[in-house]
Amino acid sequence: MNTVVVYTSKYGSTEKYAQWIAEALGCKAKKLSELSSKSLSAFDTIIYGGGIYAGAIAGFKKFLSKLGSNDNKTLALYIVGLTDPQKQDAYTEIADKNIPPEWKNRFKVFAFRGDQRFSRMSTMHKLMMRVPKSMAEKKPPEQRTEDDRMFIENFGKDVLLSDKGFILPLVDYIKSAE
Ligand SMILES: Cc1cc2nc3c(=O)[nH]c(=O)nc-3n(C[C@H](O)[C@H](O)[C@H](O)COP(=O)(O)O)c2cc1C
Repeated sequence: MNTVVVYTSKYGSTEKYAQWIAEALGCKAKKLSELSSKSLSAFDTIIYGGGIYAGAIAGFKKFLSKLGSNDNKTLALYIVGLTDPQKQDAYTEIADKNIPPEWKNRFKVFAFRGDQRFSRMSTMHKLMMRVPKSMAEKKPPEQRTEDDRMFIENFGKDVLLSDKGFILPLVDYIKSAE
């Protein structure tokens, strides 16, 4: 099978996962910006990965426009965020919001945990990270969720949470679809 991992990554976590997946499947990993619609159409199995930014999956709309309306491909989506992937509801909500209705049943979705690279963040992103932290701080401590505590504790830090083990269900899914 002709497989490719396509990704959009701002600070490297989604790229790292793309390389791990490509290595496990013996295929290539490519940045979305490096692929045209025509070059994408050559693949039978396409895995797209994007980091989550304020609930949006980076590059996913552009990826869909490059993909066109091809029905014959095996498609998988992995999304990378700071929320604990054990909290499937949070990721299901993000997938629901980001995948247009006509694509809903076409993608098998996987959620992975990424790193927070505060030291590399743009000024805009550092400012944006203040919002969930301030909201969390306004809540009485006993009402704070795990994410709230994480936003407070991790603000300003580099926190490395990526783990190669997360890719296994995706790799198994692709291997069984091939
Ligand atoms: C401005 C900003 C907004 C973010 N919003 C979310 C979010 O809504 N949910 C989440 O789980 N992670 C969120 N994150 C964390 C990123 O998804 C996480 O750091 C991920 O590893 C980024 O992947 P990348 O480095 O490949 O782009 C946000 C990070 C930044 C900088």
